Amino acid sequence: MEMENKWLNEAFKGEVPDFHGHVGWQCPSNIALVKYWGKRGKQLPQNQSISFTLSKCCTETFVEFEKANRFGFSFFFEGKENPAFGAKIEKFLLDNQAFFPFINQLHLKVESRNSFPHSSGIASSASSMSAFVMCLLELERSLSLSKGRPIDMDLRKASYFSRLASGSAARSVFPKMALWGKTDCYKGSSDEFAVSLENDIHPIFKTYRDAILIVSGETKAVSSRAGHALMEGNPYASARYAQANENIKNLLAALKSGDLATFINITESEALQLHALMMCSNPSFILIKPNTLSILNEIRAFRNETKIPLCFTLDAGPNVHLLYPESEAEKVKHFIKENLASYCVDNKWIADYVGDGPKKLL
Ligand code: PMV
Repeated sequence: MEMENKWLNEAFKGEVPDFHGHVGWQCPSNIALVKYWGKRGKQLPQNQSISFTLSKCCTETFVEFEKANRFGFSFFFEGKENPAFGAKIEKFLLDNQAFFPFINQLHLKVESRNSFPHSSGIASSASSMSAFVMCLLELERSLSLSKGRPIDMDLRKASYFSRLASGSAARSVFPKMALWGKTDCYKGSSDEFAVSLENDIHPIFKTYRDAILIVSGETKAVSSRAGHALMEGNPYASARYAQANENIKNLLAALKSGDLATFINITESEALQLHALMMCSNPSFILIKPNTLSILNEIRAFRNETKIPLCFTLDAGPNVHLLYPESEAEKVKHFIKENLASYCVDNKWIADYVGDGPKKLL
């Protein structure tokens, strides 16, 4: 609330000068280790979540702006006008115009593209919404600068508005790892924005790789909006939130000390719990496929046999994220080619890794 009031007071409210130009940002997707599943109020999480920020899976967004008499907006995705996706961003802007009143004097043309292939089943809302919000804040900075008032890019503000656009996007604006949700175990944490964990993790986690094994390219059978809503009637909801709390506390400690056994245990348990929650909601959903299960079993067998500290996580879909430290990259690559690729669509997987967060393009 305090931050909200500060940002409302600071909003650029004056007459927009005769103004045109471009801004552009690239933002990565992120993969949660402790999952956000269930929300309350205005996009607030029922439990805290922790994620790795990725590198390769990202969205690039450019906004061309021009002074106008009233708010104007068009949205292009990968070169084609896309009113459905544009409508979400337009709604977000209109809902938050008290913070960005200058939009009422601008025409915005937004162009966006994803680095990951179409129909790879990878959710893009975290990267696309955070990339758009970074552009919006960059635009605000340009306006302020044009009036001789330079302002810094405020990542907390970027995270706050990314959260309002799409919950998990709140975590995409920070390098390496982020925590979203208030917990007594981490000073400065908040339900309203994510915070960076970069300085509180063992160096091994900064080298982590994420091989995304594409089991199906189909779009999700349940939107995350519907999935979050189903937690309201889920009989296991309160046990889940208590367990997530416990997992956050233990994972934060393991991330700090480099305790890989605890990291693996919590990460895999969280992935399975997310799917278990979907399976016991009403209506229920089974989003994993037979090949997902085969991959999970292969990963556990390989770990038992070789003692290589690799593990899996899942998003709300059938694709598997295989997580491992860079030092094991050669052996794991061989394992993927020999044992896992055949379970993937066209033997397809994406070699991603923990990254440095958003990049300014223009
Ligand atoms: O950000 P949303 O509303 O799409 O929800 C994301 C939910 C999960 O991806 C399943 C988990 C998470 O924490 O990212």
